[in-house]
Amino acid sequence: MRNVLITGANRGLGLALAEHFASLDDTRVFATTREASTASDLHDTSKRCGDRIEVIAVDVASATSIAALATMLEARDVTLDVLVNNAGTASWTSFGEIDEATSAEIMRVNALGPVLVTQALARRVRDGGKIVNITSTLGSIERATSSWGLVYSMSKAALNMFSKILSIELRDRHIAVLALHPGWVRTRMGGDEAPLEIAQSVAGMAKVIDGLDLENSGRYLTYEGEPLPW
Ligand SMILES: NC(=O)c1ccc[n+]([C@@H]2O[C@H](COP(=O)([O-])OP(=O)(O)OC[C@H]3O[C@@H](n4cnc5c(N)ncnc54)[C@H](OP(=O)(O)O)[C@@H]3O)[C@@H](O)[C@H]2O)c1
Repeated sequence: MRNVLITGANRGLGLALAEHFASLDDTRVFATTREASTASDLHDTSKRCGDRIEVIAVDVASATSIAALATMLEARDVTLDVLVNNAGTASWTSFGEIDEATSAEIMRVNALGPVLVTQALARRVRDGGKIVNITSTLGSIERATSSWGLVYSMSKAALNMFSKILSIELRDRHIAVLALHPGWVRTRMGGDEAPLEIAQSVAGMAKVIDGLDLENSGRYLTYEGEPLPW
């Protein structure tokens, strides 16, 4: 049985990724959500998938919550084939409008969250497994054009750095790491103007994740597998 863990899986891209992986043969998905009692779409999806999706409450901004997740997987001796750090939050303010509390939350969830989740679960990821960090083109320093979404962009640039360093750190264990941009997608974060449907993005990301190996580990790619400049 293949095990996949996805954070922030109660809606948007995380939910669709959970459904995609649960549709694959012999695959069980650990789908995390901040608040399990209100994650009705995730519970419905889990039922539709014949309970191949297990719903787990995790707040990636809480070290205690992350530790509880690690302890649970440890106690059940679960080995992960794929870990997807998908949970994210955003604010589209620019330089001059930056608010401390919102910014600290964005950095905590988008940049530090994946580091702490991965650090806590690294022992549970099998040698030869995969770790995918869902990033954004807004994290590309080379592509920066304005300060719109400044702190979100900074958080994804930090996540990109983590992805690269993690790929080096885990190479000996043959664990492949990717910084993956989902495209601009119609989710709560992406908004109604976004050109891509969730299904298009997830189909592309699934293909890229499928093709992830040590050869392309440490890269920054779009959902279509195109390289992005750091
Ligand atoms: N949509 C796009 O166009 C786009 C483009 C580039 C990158 N991305 C990235 O893609 C990922 C998924 O985004 P999305 O578009 O699917 O957005 P979304 O619909 O807003 O979903 C975000 C998910 O992250 C979860 N989350 C937020 N804070 C969390 C925390 N502290 N602990 C655990 N989970 C938390 C949310 O849970 P709650 O429901 O509890 O808030 C939700 O499940 C994000 O990393 C985002 O930055 C999206």
